[in-house]
Amino acid sequence: MENYKRTHSCGELRLIDANKRVILNGWVHRIRDHGGIHFINLRDRYGITQVVVNPGSPESLLETVRSLKPEYCIAVKGKVLKRPRNMVNHDMPTGEIEVEAREIVILSQCAPLPFVIDDKTDARDEARIKYRYLDLRSFSMQRKIRLRHRAAFAVREFLEGEEFYEIETPTLIKSTPEGARDFLVPARLFPGKFFALPQSPQLFKQILMVGGLDRYFQLARCYRDEDARGDRQLEFTQIDIEMSFVDREDVLSLTEGLYAHLFKKVLGAELSLPFPRLSFAQAMDRFGTDKPDGRFALELGDFSPWAGEGEFGVFQEALAGGGTVKYLAVPEGENFTRKGIAELEETAKTYGAGGLAWMRVVKTPEGRGALEGGIAKFFAPRQEAIISALGLKEGTLLLFSAGPWKTACQSLGAVRLKLGRDLGLIDKNRFHFLWVVDFPLFEYSEENQGWKPAHHMFSMPQKRFLPTLEENPGEVLGDLYDLVLNGYELGSGSIRIHDPELQKRIFRIIGLSDEEAEKRFGFLLKAFAFGAPPHGGIAAGFDRTVMLMAGEESIREVIPFPKNTQGASPMEESPAEVDPRQLEELGLQIRGKTPGQERQT
Ligand code: AMO
Repeated sequence: MENYKRTHSCGELRLIDANKRVILNGWVHRIRDHGGIHFINLRDRYGITQVVVNPGSPESLLETVRSLKPEYCIAVKGKVLKRPRNMVNHDMPTGEIEVEAREIVILSQCAPLPFVIDDKTDARDEARIKYRYLDLRSFSMQRKIRLRHRAAFAVREFLEGEEFYEIETPTLIKSTPEGARDFLVPARLFPGKFFALPQSPQLFKQILMVGGLDRYFQLARCYRDEDARGDRQLEFTQIDIEMSFVDREDVLSLTEGLYAHLFKKVLGAELSLPFPRLSFAQAMDRFGTDKPDGRFALELGDFSPWAGEGEFGVFQEALAGGGTVKYLAVPEGENFTRKGIAELEETAKTYGAGGLAWMRVVKTPEGRGALEGGIAKFFAPRQEAIISALGLKEGTLLLFSAGPWKTACQSLGAVRLKLGRDLGLIDKNRFHFLWVVDFPLFEYSEENQGWKPAHHMFSMPQKRFLPTLEENPGEVLGDLYDLVLNGYELGSGSIRIHDPELQKRIFRIIGLSDEEAEKRFGFLLKAFAFGAPPHGGIAAGFDRTVMLMAGEESIREVIPFPKNTQGASPMEESPAEVDPRQLEELGLQIRGKTPGQERQT
């Protein structure tokens, strides 16, 4: 390498470097033979430089050039030349020069490629993950990795400026479930015992507050044994934050400041602060989800006041059962065929709706508004009153979902989102942040026939519910907040409980006996007994943040080495069986595999 170490990168040379003797190192991006003149596009992280090998070059050089293939790693010694005017490439920063090769050395050859390395690869995701080192060479991946790096740096820069300490917390911890399944690590020195990988540093960051550290953050690796999806991975990174002596406003405004800095610094984007806020109930009522995509309007409305007036059984049953009827008024509804409506109905059904009722607003020959099609006949007597009360315009398509409040909202919310995408209502260049606050503290779990925490069990109930928590847990609102960006849940947090007695009450409501709570969380309760400060915090998904900054739809795109959709890594082939001796040392034995248990990777 000694004599072939680069003097410049492949993105560096400009016209003022003409006539310099240089050495470049990089990969053969493209190679073309134009009637005996060879052009090599040499690529590294910094850019591409055109190398030219003239037909009159020494035979040994020509021989080397003829043996080159894409992705060979080479060194080029040569002279920088000004390109003839008609050969200048204005699309390349190095487009005014080329390097005339005097010598080329192959540093390493490249096996036949599984896919072409390009910005717009059509290689399947699986191949891109298996050969990640090749995928990472593309400028598009390099840009995303750079973005990720710059984002991490900006987060650190902002929080350091706000007097936060970056503190690492352990990744071999006690299994303290936070909602998902734990990954377990057998402890060799303690046969039969296990560490767990943290689902988040939740308890440690709270204990750091008891430790008087006041303002903590960490770009924390988290591990959750759950199904991988577009915005979920088994291991991921959070911007994890905790602060002492704060209330909700402090955490929200700190987070807004952090995101404003991050987006300004990395993307040059100006976010308008403060972010709008919706209560959980408003978010569900207006958008049918607790993570609304606020980039387009098309809000849900409440049809319940009218629903009982028509003779439509489905609506009447929903109301009689204590439910509701929600509607969406879709403009230019005449463009929807029955097939189109049936597709929307499928979406609603996936989210638990029994169906998707519809009718249209039309104009009668006399010029009056009327309802037509679908369930219109049930509402004929009241049609004018409905049209005027809801402010409906001719051409509107009305879609309805009836049922229990949550199902009616969620199913129509899914339809709203599909319409937003299908009708091109979403401005892809917009970043629409919002907060959802006032979440219920508990959710009823049909599976366990009992209450479970809606977020996690360390969140503070809102003060007014404190005296009566146990009476109706379903009505208790928590000091909880979610940060939402473009329809994705970006972060969640809460003001925490710091009183061990209150914490025990919460444990009891979710069915954890005092003994069980002591066994699992005794260390936290004990820490709280030693003058715990009031505290609160938040964790934002770092991968999701970078994904949205990069305009991507999967976090795999911004994770250097992601798992595939099955939750496996085809590159190093993990998970994998281990040496029987390792199992022996751990005192573990694998029981016979049930057929179909092992997933295909
Ligand atoms: P929560 O579980 O809501 O809260 O997680 C916070 C944020 O982390 C991101 N996230 C994920 N990203 C990728 N893959 C996953 N599997 C995944 N799971 C979660 C999301 C989410 O909003 N300890 C609490 C936070 C707190 O209360 O301070 C917690 O972890 O963007």
